[in-house]
Amino acid sequence: MAHYVINGGHRLEGSVTISGAKNAAVAIIPAVILAGESCVVENLPQIEDVRILEQILQHMGANVEFTADGAMRVDPRRINTHTVTFDMVSRLRASYYLLGAMLGRYGHAEIALPGGCSIGQRPIDQHIKGMRALGANVVIERGIVKAHAEKLTGAEIYLDVVSVGATINIMLAAVGASGQTIISNAAKEPHVVDVANFLNMMGASVKGAGTDVIRIQGGRKLHGCTYAIIPDQIEAGTFMIAAAATRGDVVINNVIPTHLEAISAKLMESGAQVIEGDDGREFFIRVSSTGRPRAVNIKTLPYPGFPTDLQQPMMAYLSMAAGNSFIVENIFEDRFNHVAELQRMGANITLNARTAMIEGVEQLSGAPLFATDLRAGAALIVAALAAEGMSSVHNIEYVDRGYEYFEQKLRALGADIRRVE
Ligand code: UD1
Repeated sequence: MAHYVINGGHRLEGSVTISGAKNAAVAIIPAVILAGESCVVENLPQIEDVRILEQILQHMGANVEFTADGAMRVDPRRINTHTVTFDMVSRLRASYYLLGAMLGRYGHAEIALPGGCSIGQRPIDQHIKGMRALGANVVIERGIVKAHAEKLTGAEIYLDVVSVGATINIMLAAVGASGQTIISNAAKEPHVVDVANFLNMMGASVKGAGTDVIRIQGGRKLHGCTYAIIPDQIEAGTFMIAAAATRGDVVINNVIPTHLEAISAKLMESGAQVIEGDDGREFFIRVSSTGRPRAVNIKTLPYPGFPTDLQQPMMAYLSMAAGNSFIVENIFEDRFNHVAELQRMGANITLNARTAMIEGVEQLSGAPLFATDLRAGAALIVAALAAEGMSSVHNIEYVDRGYEYFEQKLRALGADIRRVE
């Protein structure tokens, strides 16, 4: 198994370019099935989740190839199975999007329940509720979700919890339903909007994405298209936090600053400098910091609140703040697996249910560390970059799932990090 060896204490300085959004990519690639024609997806990150989806689609009979400039061309016309088995999906939580896409296109899908990061219970009841409302018969048998519909019909669906996955999955199925679907209490995350834009580019009618009511006029004839996905909000946020944690000065290119407002606000509150700019080609954000951060309080919330995916890197940063910070994790009840690792680096963190109290220490010290999920891995890397001395970060296959060329990008900023296979 590969691991990172990190010699901490180097300021990150320079510029880094953000890749395409993982969470948009893992929805848009399956959504190509709905087009029934070949689509080209540009600005895809080279990450493990994308490679797994490529393999799943190929296994299903789709033709998947990469163009010279790295875009993925997916031709779904030869798909010859509507079944996706556990060995294919076990490493990819977002495989549930195949359910909505296949149900919308073929009226039938059998998908093994997803794997992915273990950060809480992560039920999919809202996805299933939505598909049933559209007229599908959905059952779970021996770990496989089986959805079938002779005909899908638009419906009004109220989500009991704000769920990114359920919002997108219902959107996908609703595109294949006849008539209007209204999703209320929908998630407003940037990648929900990106998927809606992609569907519209294929000829669908999805209105209101980015607000909490989305209207889909289903049953339209769709066609192939070329689409470039948005920059990754979470990757950008991770580099912003790493810049501040190492008391560095980093220009983060290819970002959408409005997607990063919650992170910018909290970093500024902690004393870091955050400047937004436009170099005429793209937006950038520059994050710099010279001293020890001030303690700040964080509550994770659905967008536009502070994203749960950055809670863990933010905790690594606040471990070194002056004063006590409180972090309340409102989205996933068990997203604290990184705490024990940070404690081994000298962090002073007390957990009480969904709240972490972080008594900032002057300095973390390097240690052998074990990632338990994707963003925990990112948090440990941030901590190790800022800490004094050597750390090794193990289980980095989690990190490979979601960060493109992570160590290369960090090295280019001056980090002393190397991958040991
Ligand atoms: C997505 C993101 C993930 C991010 C999360 C929250 C992708 C591929 N992953 O995950 O990076 O951390 O949003 O921003 O986009 N819930 C239910 N029933 C459901 C669905 C969800 O109770 O049917 C609950 C979950 O347990 C959780 C909350 O709703 O407490 C939000 O989950 P959701 O937004 O669905 O997260 P994911 O789509 O899995």
